[in-house]
Amino acid sequence: MNTITLPTQRAYRIIDHSYDVVVVGAGGSGLRTTLGMGASGLRTACITKVFPTRSHTVAAQGGIAASLGSMGEDHWQWHMYDTIKGSDWLGDQDAIEYLCREAVPSVYELEHMGVPFTRTEDGKIYQRPFGGHMRDFGKEPVQRACAAADRTGHAILHTLYQQSLKHDVEFFVEYFALDLIMNKDGACCGVIAWCLEDGTMHRFNANLVVLATGGYGRAFQSCTSAHTCTGDGSAMVMRADIPTQDMEFVQFHPTGIFPAGCLLTEGCRGEGGYLTNSEGERFMERYAPHAKDLASRDVVSRAMIVEIHEGRGCGPNKDHIMLHLEHLGADILHERLPSIVETSRVFAGIDVTKEPVPVLPTVHYNMGGIPTNIHGEVIRPNSNNLDAIVPGLMAVGEAACVSVHGANRLGTNSLLDLIVFGRAAAKRATEILKPGGFVAPLPKNAGEETLSRFDKLRYANKGTRVAEMRDNLQRTMQRHASVFRNTKSLEEGAQKIKNIWAGLGDISIADHSLIWNTDLMEGLEFENLLANGTVTMLSAGQRQESRGAHAHDDYPERDDKNWLKHTVSYLNNKGEVSFTYRPVHMYTLTDEVQVFPPKKRVY
Ligand code: FUM
Repeated sequence: MNTITLPTQRAYRIIDHSYDVVVVGAGGSGLRTTLGMGASGLRTACITKVFPTRSHTVAAQGGIAASLGSMGEDHWQWHMYDTIKGSDWLGDQDAIEYLCREAVPSVYELEHMGVPFTRTEDGKIYQRPFGGHMRDFGKEPVQRACAAADRTGHAILHTLYQQSLKHDVEFFVEYFALDLIMNKDGACCGVIAWCLEDGTMHRFNANLVVLATGGYGRAFQSCTSAHTCTGDGSAMVMRADIPTQDMEFVQFHPTGIFPAGCLLTEGCRGEGGYLTNSEGERFMERYAPHAKDLASRDVVSRAMIVEIHEGRGCGPNKDHIMLHLEHLGADILHERLPSIVETSRVFAGIDVTKEPVPVLPTVHYNMGGIPTNIHGEVIRPNSNNLDAIVPGLMAVGEAACVSVHGANRLGTNSLLDLIVFGRAAAKRATEILKPGGFVAPLPKNAGEETLSRFDKLRYANKGTRVAEMRDNLQRTMQRHASVFRNTKSLEEGAQKIKNIWAGLGDISIADHSLIWNTDLMEGLEFENLLANGTVTMLSAGQRQESRGAHAHDDYPERDDKNWLKHTVSYLNNKGEVSFTYRPVHMYTLTDEVQVFPPKKRVY
């Protein structure tokens, strides 16, 4: 055991570990990575702040996209076109080709691992329609979402965890990763983590660290994300002076239950559900004459907000929209959408077999994140496309930005992203690492700076509770970085964020204990949320166009001439952000498909 004594004279005892690979996070991407690493014999540790099967992937409902063609003709090239169009042409076309091609073998692998997919009469994987997924390059909706009722994430997560246990991987459960450990050459060589149960500090030394920490939905007031979604990985990366990418693109899911905000899957509309305004009108027919309620999420969310702003919202306050499922009949609802029946009853007191349920767009997904290549390797993007790889560091899943979702993700491409790139990261690791290879020792006093930050927060005893600070951040994000943005509101949002940074010295933590100190943990999570929220607000402020989920009232059109590029942002420890840009990859991986040049995006 080692000890680090801080300048304050407080000492922290450290338990050191050494592995080939350390994966941080045990959701879908973390477990798919861990499983792949373990299967290839790499000595792998998986650090997770919640028990693996409680990770947020468990809440994914409607399905995982793959052009299996169980229900009719489908092709990965159609899926690729839809994903590029869904991304409003900001997605990298080589990465999207990889995602859509690899979808098919990746989903069959899941099936063979034992994921209990719903079946068709003839035993194939059941697939339902989802927004923006079309046949024949955008002509008609296609059934591409492979579903396990409306509990697809639950089914996948449990299967991956069980499969991981077959291999010799070690789980460190309820450990909170505090920071990356970088060496003097800028390579990542480990992670420092705090064990919540017994309060011990741990340094994990490894040849490869994989961040699979999910998104930061909890930076907003109303979101479908679990309380654990606090952007821990992207914040660790920012503290290590590595950039994030495209953080202005935050997805609002059209059907958050009103007012609770929890998810009612898009599979509701996939199975034939539809939205109405206070006049009983199926208004999506006006906004997306072709795809209607199955247009992509940014389009549907905007349409709902416009209806409300123009006075056609439902209820006494005209502040929500109605989702109808009652016409589908109780049998179909209980068979295909059982969780929706239950969620609507519990959170809205509504029996969806009999009456419509109130809904409102709610934050659901972060398209931006830690920039990577298609192997999951973290990159420092370069404006000439000469991206440098950060040695020893990978990122996968929602924490990462490959970028396959660009400015707007299609529903069911998220579970797919977790699985395809978790699998890709494991494949890459087996190419570059030897199981049981030499692990260079950690730099002297590795983690000391992190422990100083931790210790300062632990003993913070000023006036403002963490919950109050977080509430202020969440309200600011919800109000100023919402479905529609404008210059004035974003500037006001940026000023409020600045004020939060200025007030950080006033924070107060309820007690100093190291054991199960949830207030301290929430303080650390708040710091992470603030880092992510800051970059989101300021990135949104500089993008002078409307694209995908970034709808800017003062710049209502997409501007390919000036803005067909990724935002690369660096945050410093004063809360200031600087920007560079990286070109979108307008090339494919193989010549089996052509580039899809930008065109007007209509549904
Ligand atoms: O609506 C849903 O079931 C969510 C799916 C997704 O975000 O991919």
